[in-house]
Amino acid sequence: MKRYYITTPIYYVNSVPHIGTALTTLVADACARFQKRRGRAVYFLTGTDENAPKVHRVAQERGIPTQQFVDEMAEVFERTWRALHIEYDVFIRTTEERHKRVVTEVFRRLREQGDIYKGIYQGWYCISCETFFAPSKIGEAKTCPDCSKPLEWRDEQCYYFRLSAYESRLREHILANPHFIEPEVRRNETLGFLAEGLQDVAVSRSGAEWGVPVPDDPEAGVVYVWFDALLNYLTATGWLERGEAYLDTWPPDLQLMGKDILPRFHATIWPAMLMALNLPLPERLYGHGWWIVNKQKMSKSLGNVYAPLEVAQALADASGCALPYAIDAFRYYVLREMPTDSDAEFSLEGVETRYNGDLANDLGNMLHRTLSMMHRYFDGRVPAGARLDAGLADLFAQQVARTTEAYEAVDFPRGLREAWQIISAVNRYYDEQAPWTLARQGNTERAGQVLYAGLIAARTLSVLVEPVMPQVAREIARQLNLSEVPRWDEAVVADAFPAGHPLQEPVPIFPRLQAKPSAATPATPAAQPAATATPASPAGQPEATTTTEPKPTAMQDLITIEEFKRLQIRIATIKAAERVPKSTKLLKLTLDVGGEERVIVAGIAEEYTPEQLIGKQIPVLVNLQPALIRGVVSEGMMLAADVDGKAVLLHPDREVPSGSIVR
Ligand code: MSP
Repeated sequence: MKRYYITTPIYYVNSVPHIGTALTTLVADACARFQKRRGRAVYFLTGTDENAPKVHRVAQERGIPTQQFVDEMAEVFERTWRALHIEYDVFIRTTEERHKRVVTEVFRRLREQGDIYKGIYQGWYCISCETFFAPSKIGEAKTCPDCSKPLEWRDEQCYYFRLSAYESRLREHILANPHFIEPEVRRNETLGFLAEGLQDVAVSRSGAEWGVPVPDDPEAGVVYVWFDALLNYLTATGWLERGEAYLDTWPPDLQLMGKDILPRFHATIWPAMLMALNLPLPERLYGHGWWIVNKQKMSKSLGNVYAPLEVAQALADASGCALPYAIDAFRYYVLREMPTDSDAEFSLEGVETRYNGDLANDLGNMLHRTLSMMHRYFDGRVPAGARLDAGLADLFAQQVARTTEAYEAVDFPRGLREAWQIISAVNRYYDEQAPWTLARQGNTERAGQVLYAGLIAARTLSVLVEPVMPQVAREIARQLNLSEVPRWDEAVVADAFPAGHPLQEPVPIFPRLQAKPSAATPATPAAQPAATATPASPAGQPEATTTTEPKPTAMQDLITIEEFKRLQIRIATIKAAERVPKSTKLLKLTLDVGGEERVIVAGIAEEYTPEQLIGKQIPVLVNLQPALIRGVVSEGMMLAADVDGKAVLLHPDREVPSGSIVR
């Protein structure tokens, strides 16, 4: 069966991930998870665009060999996406040999069949947008019509791709397939772009030293980076090596990108290249709007570029929310506020407002008050005979259908609004029925019936939020004592909880924000100490969320064996070690924990040099919540002896397999 193939653009590695690139990747992740939940086999591709002149230029400015620079940057992208709970299937890099082979092959084929021909290029090039502009499109100032940066003049022999030959076929395809380009505004933009007439495009650059060499013509330099980059989507299917088998993935079902790279590149050059290769076109291209910050475009010079993990860490610090859930809360904000047709404002105040309102007050509170009352009045077990009211069952099912339809249309803001209607319905129901009063008056049967609606709603929400907040979804399921998040088509089951079903103790997922956090200023690591949230009960709601966990006291010094068992300590072998920039104390260690690689940050740089550590085996606590330390995500903690405040490493008595359990 063909897999649902979903792609993001591949990102230039001249700068680190920011909320713009995170937006496209998070939307793709949510779409991929949604399709998986619905039972489809999914193939989710993302990666890095490394052959660009601007990437080479930045590496040179920093005095780093370009290959080393792109290797390091690709790793930063992978780590950031993983830390944001992004579950891609393949991470492609355009410096990989398999990709270069595809670029070479396609260039040769199109040249042989006359779709690529040799000519002279005289015109302007924007290195920031990696785009050629005909002299007729350029004003007096010789600046880029897209980004306003100064242009470079090019006068060179080059190869052209015969784009103009595909103009009418492209127009016909767009007109015949209303869903080929979405949303509507992008489709119109593309038709407008086509109406101006298509010129052939230069697809090689002479004199350049970084990139895929033009095949069989060393004088011609390298292949134009966009021609190279677009082919990544084909490389990742194994088109060149797998014979017909690549059709288990090809063509893409959904290609996501920002509006800037849709009309000219993905909706024009890309389908024309595929037409020239006689390959089926993608089903759907979706171009989202842009984040703007303080009504302006994000840019390094304005200092308004936010790093996603720093925003999540600041939220965690300010609220006391565990980092994985704060990361999910950030994901929620991004998808709830996502710019679809037009641009949208990104702000930390907005993140906080959504967190306190939609997550702490609505979702978190509904789960918490329902479970608290189940424990208070029913000993944490589902009472016999309870069932969801038919009216509510219909309403829940209708909201699930609406959410499904919106997610399918890549409209997550609408989908989440529809899902939240279920929470509002339960809150209204509780207010009308007052189950706490019913229980106190001895009408436990009716109280159980009312609370059952809250349980079903929480179960349904775990399904609907999974694409957006996967860890939160799992935690909701855990508190409901479900072995996993239910399947999409079983999101509403009126009698999902049998009588006697035991529920877990409620644990607040989203403690309310009390402090004024906003520790994350753009591009600055959030270094604020964690602000502890205090319990807050909404007035008049007797069973509202208690937002803090009990503080440990001296009497609680002794722990049980069960508590100890929660610590997963393993022996790790140190594979690489390096200093964390601008820190005298910290080392970044890359560990082998039994086939799995982990990065941790350890405060041992004053006692040990990186070289001393390679190959050493150390105990590491591996199930510690990840933390962002000086821009590095630390995924565990090494254990060492503390001798007058200095770390002394511990090693096993003899060499043991990496990943060995310590207990
Ligand atoms: N390398 C090309 C894509 C090649 S795909 C064959 C490229 N890379 S990029 O690093 O510039 O990132 C592109 C993605 O990030 C686009 O989807 C773009 O729209 C998105 N964003 C970059 N800044 C953005 C905002 N401020 N807001 C939203 N998305 C933005 O282009």
